[in-house]
Amino acid sequence: MKTTVIAFANQKGGVAKTTTVAELGDILSQHLGKKVLMVDMDPQSSLTQIRGDLPQLTRSAVPNMTQVMLRKASIREAIVPIKENLWLAPTTLELSDAELSLVQMTLRELVLRDALKTLMEDPDFHFDYILIDCPPSRGLLTVNALSAADEVVIPVQAEYQALLGRQLVKNTISQVQSQINKNLKIYGYVVTMTQHTLQSNEAYQVLEDDSIQILQTFPGRLKSPMPA
Ligand SMILES: Nc1ncnc2c1ncn2[C@@H]1O[C@H](COP(=O)(O)OP(=O)(O)OP(=O)(O)O)[C@@H](O)[C@H]1O
Ligand SMILES: [Mg+2]
Repeated sequence: MKTTVIAFANQKGGVAKTTTVAELGDILSQHLGKKVLMVDMDPQSSLTQIRGDLPQLTRSAVPNMTQVMLRKASIREAIVPIKENLWLAPTTLELSDAELSLVQMTLRELVLRDALKTLMEDPDFHFDYILIDCPPSRGLLTVNALSAADEVVIPVQAEYQALLGRQLVKNTISQVQSQINKNLKIYGYVVTMTQHTLQSNEAYQVLEDDSIQILQTFPGRLKSPMPA
């Protein structure tokens, strides 16, 4: 059975990328019985903080995504079990330094793709889904995630500024599609944190207008707001 690799990307910070990955990881693994690997590609390590054990990881010599992205460890060595059917490839703040070192490497956009390819060929591991949490930037870590992914989900906050910034992430996706990963598909947008804007008529107006655009571009692909 083929593994589906999904990246969650938006250069805008705080739009619930990490929360969406964490919740979806739980739903897929705990409720639907799928085998799921979550990959933390954000040096802020939010996913590792909420689903893993960051203090333990920082103390230990066990490799994490930093070493994987430096090609010093395989992702297999970094994976830790979280719950039944759910695994995490955690990270630490040092992933930020690794991103700078990546600039010097050949095939720097393909480090994660190669790491996941090796993992998927490993008969000891099978995942139905690999969910990649991206940092709020359009840098090499996000490009690596998009290059490795079959699909990208774009969390957008129901807020004027967040909706305006959509074009930026789409530009990055288009570049990756044309130069590195022509199979990458935009799965859709997830409109997040709608309850924060319940009082704001303006935000609703923008969301309504925008929803129409999104629906025209990706028919049937507008996802309903995530649960609180
Ligand atoms: N539905 C929700 N209701 C209330 N708070 C939420 C909801 N979804 C996310 N949050 C909170 O919003 C904050 C930002 O969420 P999150 O860290 O998932 O965003 P992010 O896009 O991953 O941020 P970053 O760009 O910094 O990585 C967090 O404190 C999270 O707990
Ligand atoms: Mg995050």
